[in-house]
Amino acid sequence: MAYDRGMIDDLVKRSDIVNVISNYINVTKKGRSFVALCPFHDDKNPSLQISRDKQIFKCFVCGQGGNAIQFVQAYEKIQFMDAARKVADLVGFTDERLSARSYAQTANPELKPYFDCMADALAFYKFSLTTEQGEAGLQYLESRHISETIRNKFEIGYSLPDGKGTIQYLLGKGHSRSTMEHLGIITMNQEPLDRLAGRIIFPIFDRYGRPVGFSGRKIGNTEGAKYINSPESKIFIKSNILYNYHHARDAARQATYMYVVEGFMDVIALYRAGIEAAVAIMGTAFTKPHLAMLRMPDVELRICLDGDSAGQAAMMKMIAPLDASRIKYRFILNAGDERDTDEILNEEGPDSLKKYLQNLVNRLEFALEYYGKTRPLKTSEQRQELVKVMIPLLAASTSELELEEYVKKLSGVTNFTRQTIEDMVKGYRAQKGEIDVERLYAQFRPEAKHLRRFQKAERQLLYFMLNDVRAIDFYKTKIEYFYDEVYRAIANFIIERSSEEEVPSLNSLLSDINELESEKKDALVKEVTALALEKDYPKCDETLLGEIHEVITLEREVYYYKQRLAKALEGKDELEKARIITEYNKIMKKYTKLKDTKGE
Ligand code: CTP
Ligand code: MN
Repeated sequence: MAYDRGMIDDLVKRSDIVNVISNYINVTKKGRSFVALCPFHDDKNPSLQISRDKQIFKCFVCGQGGNAIQFVQAYEKIQFMDAARKVADLVGFTDERLSARSYAQTANPELKPYFDCMADALAFYKFSLTTEQGEAGLQYLESRHISETIRNKFEIGYSLPDGKGTIQYLLGKGHSRSTMEHLGIITMNQEPLDRLAGRIIFPIFDRYGRPVGFSGRKIGNTEGAKYINSPESKIFIKSNILYNYHHARDAARQATYMYVVEGFMDVIALYRAGIEAAVAIMGTAFTKPHLAMLRMPDVELRICLDGDSAGQAAMMKMIAPLDASRIKYRFILNAGDERDTDEILNEEGPDSLKKYLQNLVNRLEFALEYYGKTRPLKTSEQRQELVKVMIPLLAASTSELELEEYVKKLSGVTNFTRQTIEDMVKGYRAQKGEIDVERLYAQFRPEAKHLRRFQKAERQLLYFMLNDVRAIDFYKTKIEYFYDEVYRAIANFIIERSSEEEVPSLNSLLSDINELESEKKDALVKEVTALALEKDYPKCDETLLGEIHEVITLEREVYYYKQRLAKALEGKDELEKARIITEYNKIMKKYTKLKDTKGE
């Protein structure tokens, strides 16, 4: 569901939720807030609360909540955009973006000139392809089998060779030279010229579909780098960008997977083969914001970087961060294939490419292949080496069955017994020590009696995260994940948003969540609105964060130790057993004490 976020934000800001809801049901004023009989369940007493300050509604009985558009959406049981149009009609908000997509929008007005300038530059580049001088560009695209349909889909353009036209056009549109300089559109010669002159233009969009940067590919065997990219700018933050994410995110939900490839020619190749759910990391480092974006559609990632040694090594490097964020993923087994997807498609056709993309393996299989190929296994030392590099990967496995299978395989390849390898995995897990949060997470189930306290702590922190940047940082650095699935999902939204707004506004969050297309959405909206109207929580401060930290980490520790105790004692000598038990008791004591002082 691609819609214009900035416009929706404007619309929400301009409409008053009390007026909107009053158009549908009777609303009465009660103190500082407004109440009504809730239309979403059989209501006897007015339990629907409407907050003019926060511009949200919430039913305290059935939990339904959201902003003005979401009220209309739920009341009329219509699509979000249709509800938005109705609200716009009600409040007299007219905007062409309600019907047509437009880029000129931003929550932050200071950035508007940059977005506008990029949008105009892109329009000019696309137009240039249709001109007489644009023929060279068209020919190049043809030579790469990029049809008109694909050109339109990816909004590919061309920068005319003389380099003056773009600048003149943009000046004529009222964009300042300093804006163009900031965006890296201008290069200075005797006169300002388009830095990408003579190149094919691949626009790079942010996750809302706004063009924020360009990659210019040279044509033919001319001088200069193959690609020149826009420099980092106020709106082009490379660590936040995945090529084609704005299309792929929705396609991924349909497809239930998303391909992650190296360059945009790969994305285009996949598209030509009928696979729309693909993003490219564009030859840059794989970052935390990338992870956050990739997690959003909640589907399996299929990672397919180049088959050369750089690509393979980059895939190996992705294992740790992917495991740490508990994303489901598999790799394409393509080691040694010199061709990229674009070449495979052109040489062998779409079916072949699809087959190639189906060659999926899990991380352990991939690592075994990788090490098997990059390291000889002739001598005993070499075989030992392979076991050593595989141990951390095996130890991170969250599935006992998977672990067993790969211990068996590794044993087969190296001739060390399964027992030896298993012991090494155990040893690694034990000495890696303290608490492996990530592993723990995978099996984490607090006991029912602890759950309430634990969840209370999580919920309080989540509440703080809606209001205080310290709490967001604290979560990121100290807590990392919530046990509660709904809280965790909301926290992820907050963190993703916080790269743009320090403390995300309620409406930004609600709009972000609204883009979700899973059943989870309702639960998230309910919880966010409930939290927003929460009156029982104190203000966030360091002491409270400290307490929350204590509760959550203790809860995790206790669980961990209980789980581990039996296993840890297996086969240990008496001294070691005593040490483990003492440690366990210490933790239990700390825990009981805390429980006693804080009460339940
Ligand atoms: N890249 C870049 N600058 C370069 C080379 C590559 O920024 N000089 C980035 C581009 O984002 C590109 C990605 O790295 O999409 C992958 O590079 P490569 O595999 O070399 O490009 P291809 O996708 O194969 O492009 P082409 O087929 O046009 O050569
Ligand atoms: Mn290529």
